[in-house]
Amino acid sequence: MMINKNSPLPIYYQIEEHIKDLIDRKQLKPGDCLPSEREFAEQYQVSRMTIRQAITNLVNSGYVYRIKGKGTFVADQNVIELKLHGITSFTENIQALGMTPSSKIIEFRSSLADKNVATKLKINENESVYEIQRIRLANQIPMALETSFLSTNIVKNLSKETAAHSLYEYIQKTLGLSLKYSTQTIEASAANKKESELLGIKKGSPILLMERITFLSDDQPIEFTKSIYRGDRYKFVVKIDQDS
Ligand code: GLP
Repeated sequence: MMINKNSPLPIYYQIEEHIKDLIDRKQLKPGDCLPSEREFAEQYQVSRMTIRQAITNLVNSGYVYRIKGKGTFVADQNVIELKLHGITSFTENIQALGMTPSSKIIEFRSSLADKNVATKLKINENESVYEIQRIRLANQIPMALETSFLSTNIVKNLSKETAAHSLYEYIQKTLGLSLKYSTQTIEASAANKKESELLGIKKGSPILLMERITFLSDDQPIEFTKSIYRGDRYKFVVKIDQDS
């Protein structure tokens, strides 16, 4: 493609549009690795700074995403339809859609429950809880940011390695506890700076904030989780029965 250096359109913008076009026309497919900044700079005969600007804009608009140390990849533009009936985990939901789930742990620590967390988990204030913050990815693309609180008395010996996989699998298979029901709220919000950086979206982008408390059969809460779902990636589906 020829860059028109005399055009009133900035060069980074022309490059950005060209790459978008390649993605839209499927010449670059989801998961494909983009050439390096250096290769692009040679190809377009522009500086690496200009390429960086174009790529950063493509990251912000969700066309591509970066993996530290690996490169920049073409994003899948699919929207996930998440069924809200059933106490399913992120891992199960993503696998059911034929994608590969993974997590990046931002925080894993034992802390003391504050008033809000204690009330939600029906434990005493200052009782010990695990506080886990994870970026949840599907095929390496950040989809959600989850912060979970679990009582250390009930969910015993949780390790960082386990939290990097499925919490529900650990609770159900390893600890042998059965999840009975959840209460859940969903509200609209806008990504703040930290959330937008972790999810690879623009600050202020629409997000869906979900809070879930999951209970065991004796009405004991086992988790309190705040999930932030990307508004451009999620659609929630509910089955409604006539008699419920
Ligand atoms: C969903 C729920 C969370 C729950 C998580 C467990 O995302 N909204 O409340 O904590 O699944 O997922 P996993 O078992 O993959 O860790």
